[in-house]
Amino acid sequence: MAKVNIRKIYFIGIHVLLVIFVFTTLYVSFPWIRVKVKEIIDPAERVYTIAHRGASGYAPENTMPAFALALDMKADSVELDIHLTKDGIPVIIHDDTVNRTTDGKGYVRNMTLQQIKQLDAGTWFNEAYPMFARESYAGIPVPTLEEVFETFGKDLHYVLEIKASKTDRMMEPVINELITKYDLEDEVAIHSFSASSLRRFHQINPEIPLYQLIWYDNTAARVSESYLADVKTYAVGIGPNFQGISSAYVAQVKRSGLKVIPYTVNYQVNMDKAYMWGVDGVYTNYPDRFLEVIETNRENANW
Ligand code: G3P
Ligand code: CA
Repeated sequence: MAKVNIRKIYFIGIHVLLVIFVFTTLYVSFPWIRVKVKEIIDPAERVYTIAHRGASGYAPENTMPAFALALDMKADSVELDIHLTKDGIPVIIHDDTVNRTTDGKGYVRNMTLQQIKQLDAGTWFNEAYPMFARESYAGIPVPTLEEVFETFGKDLHYVLEIKASKTDRMMEPVINELITKYDLEDEVAIHSFSASSLRRFHQINPEIPLYQLIWYDNTAARVSESYLADVKTYAVGIGPNFQGISSAYVAQVKRSGLKVIPYTVNYQVNMDKAYMWGVDGVYTNYPDRFLEVIETNRENANW
């Protein structure tokens, strides 16, 4: 009986050694295998933590407390969404309407700033997320872009999302004026799903880094080289939805010279994956979680 077990152990041991030998020989002899392995595990040197709509997992999205919390958590940047009011003022709100995130109803573009300023942008959050509710959130207003710049100035870095619509053609010059007024050229990047809006902005101020947002319904293993070449004419990177990308996709985009920053990465398992794939940053509602993931991966890399 003991003899049979020893033979079994020898048999398994020899096969394990054989597999290791074959893999090592292939890895050393064929460069394309080394490239494939590098595609899977290749963290970027600098990985950015971008607080999506502020630290919106813990405070009402796109409000001053959400931005302040992101700053406290030491996120690298805050992402915020911009619409224009009826009177042409850039306000920070995600949806076309005020319905979901305030106690009002109607399209932002049909309301004046004065009307928008009457609304409560915090109570919905207290009701939806009682575990993170705070009395101080009740009654907080929708901020303007100018108020955000005035309050945080150079203490924050910003990724501004142009929520473009056909009626918002004034959006790009108005935003650029505010960036210049507050001397924030080095603190601001801009992204949008609208390529035409980004191209317009690039014409107005080619110094501001731009990112093309992309949505994929299914996981994309590759992206067309001609598309990437076109994006490179006006942007420095792309922002795809995390569920739509893979390690090969990230490697291809990076090889093209564009940065890749997926959204919205909220769970640790996905944060780990994104980090290992070598993304240049992630948009997350929980910046504290991603900062921890970066730290842990760095510590492990030093073992
Ligand atoms: O960070 C990219 C992301 O903000 C785009 O989607 O809908 O959250 O504005 P959304
Ligand atoms: Ca956004």
